[in-house]
Amino acid sequence: MISKKGIFNILIVDDNPDHAQLAKDKLLSTNPEYQINIAHSGTECLKLLSQNNFDILLLDYNLPKENGLELLSKLRKMYQLPVIFVTGQGNEKIAVNAIKSGAYDYITKSTNYLSILPLVVEKAITAFQTKKLQAKLQKSLEESEEKYRDLVENANDLICTLDSTGKITTINKQAISFFHYSKNEILKMNLKHFISPDVRKNIPTFIRKTIEQGTVSGFKTKLTNKEGKEIIVEINASLIKQNGEISGIRTIIRDITQREKMEGEIKKSKHYLENLFASIQDAIFCLKPDTTIASCNEAAEKIFNYSKQTMLGKKLTALSTDDRKIFSLIKKIIDPKITKKIYAQEVLMKKKDGKKFPAELQISSMKNKKTENTEILVTIKDISERKQLQLRLIQADKMVTLGQLAGGVAHEINNPLTSVMGNAQLLLMQLPPTNPGYTEIQKIEQSAQRCKSIVTNLLGFSRQQEFEFQATNVNEIINRTLSLYERQLTIENIRVVKKYAKNLPKLKLSAPQIQQVFLNLIVNAQQSMPSGGNLTISTEISNTASSKNKLIDNKQSEKNITITFQDQGMGIEKESLARIFDPFFSTKEVGNNTGLGLSVSYGIIKKHKGNIRAKSNGKGKGSKFVIILPLETEKESL
Ligand SMILES: Nc1ncnc2c1ncn2[C@@H]1O[C@H](COP(=O)(O)OP(=O)(O)O)[C@@H](O)[C@H]1O
Ligand SMILES: [Mg+2]
Repeated sequence: MISKKGIFNILIVDDNPDHAQLAKDKLLSTNPEYQINIAHSGTECLKLLSQNNFDILLLDYNLPKENGLELLSKLRKMYQLPVIFVTGQGNEKIAVNAIKSGAYDYITKSTNYLSILPLVVEKAITAFQTKKLQAKLQKSLEESEEKYRDLVENANDLICTLDSTGKITTINKQAISFFHYSKNEILKMNLKHFISPDVRKNIPTFIRKTIEQGTVSGFKTKLTNKEGKEIIVEINASLIKQNGEISGIRTIIRDITQREKMEGEIKKSKHYLENLFASIQDAIFCLKPDTTIASCNEAAEKIFNYSKQTMLGKKLTALSTDDRKIFSLIKKIIDPKITKKIYAQEVLMKKKDGKKFPAELQISSMKNKKTENTEILVTIKDISERKQLQLRLIQADKMVTLGQLAGGVAHEINNPLTSVMGNAQLLLMQLPPTNPGYTEIQKIEQSAQRCKSIVTNLLGFSRQQEFEFQATNVNEIINRTLSLYERQLTIENIRVVKKYAKNLPKLKLSAPQIQQVFLNLIVNAQQSMPSGGNLTISTEISNTASSKNKLIDNKQSEKNITITFQDQGMGIEKESLARIFDPFFSTKEVGNNTGLGLSVSYGIIKKHKGNIRAKSNGKGKGSKFVIILPLETEKESL
């Protein structure tokens, strides 16, 4: 019901001013809020209508020069407003025609006509307003229905409704286009038909769950269409209820094939990166700005021998003895004023058991895009092996220089020495032994002999002597050497333990030279054990690639024979180890020991393209000499 207080515009069309005024007064007396205009002719009426919006028109049939009915039909075409036709008494027929022409109601100017006029007007206004409102509501309902239909029809998802058996009851365009059947065909099918056979058994459960729970979201399955095309989908389903009764299931089916594929790829690449991270041999740490360890890789656990759990939260400096160096690097890395963002330095790190090792530490920073924090990335490479190799190279270099020097000196001395010896021998032949100078000349000759043997040794070390090579069994040479020195070893209370490899292939070598090497090593071992002990001599076929002792240079063959002399003697101090093969290096008393034994041995082994190395765990802990001879030399000769 439209409120009585509503302001309505009323137009009264009547050529009789008194009648019009009476009607106006009557209407205002019932509703003073009415806005009432009066027109005295059809022309005036049309003019006023074109200028204002009226809610109702009271049209008198009797207008001068005009037919009320004609005016009415003209008005109806132009304006949408209720018209109440006013006729004189006896003109009811005309009134009926007016209603046919579209008038809302009619009223006859009878004696009590003014008393019913307000009611008729109000009824007409209310009815018309209600009709207008209904039309508006209907329109907006139709519009919103259209909007939703459009939304469903053109949605990117497949939208269907099902009955409780899974039969498809309605379907949108996208679903028709995927299923590839006609709409009519689909509406006779069950959703089960499109579920890939391997997962079809899940459908009843899905429907049951929807009925039980009211909604099911994120149900993942596979759909196959008429052409056999398969997609991975996620179904969201809910119940459709009408008057409290379940009338079906609404399903929104989203094609997630691409998303799944991408997720798969992301997973794969995540896996790949994790593997990569785990397979890196260097320790990698991620630090917070206060240097506590936030994460680390597997290599870090292996290198430092701590579990990841123990390391997390610890400070990196706890794993090092060079904390100051590390701190200063970190300070630089997190300093926003310093633009250089990567540093490398050699530091000493510490394992769980306290063992220190040289490491190359690389430090850089990165911004965590998620947290906006600066994270410090530290890579630690154990460079012990590299360092050892460097030392070996330096040592090898030194030995070459020494060899050249010794060789040069020996050559220079050799000629004058021959002359000294020759002349001394001549003099001795010419002089009778009773000659007062005879003994002195003898001493000259003996000293010259000794010098000569030193010169020969020096030449041996500098590898300037030529030997004859013959295929020989190394075990046999060791046995022969031992038999020469057996007596001495027994006297000195030294027991020889032999651990020979069986079926040792023959090596092409100079047996007398190799024998000299073995003898030197046996003598040294015996001298290092003044109160006796074991000397273990072992031979084995070794493989450079698999062998821990990468003693030999890369250029050498992969297969070798390794001969080891292990004693239980006084051992070798670290400082001596580096100089042990130098000519004239000796820690023994001056006498028969020239300090040339090992340098000569070194020269001989090098001439055989092999390698010799000394190891000792320090004073009093015994010594080990390892000789490696390549098998290839022998192969070439056969
Ligand atoms: N088996 C060993 N045990 C301890 N020290 C050794 C051994 N072999 C060699 N050395 C050390 O190496 C030095 C050099 O040995 P070498 O060249 O044979 O000269 P020399 O025996 O004349 O001293 C020795 O003086 C000794 O200090
Ligand atoms: Mg010696």
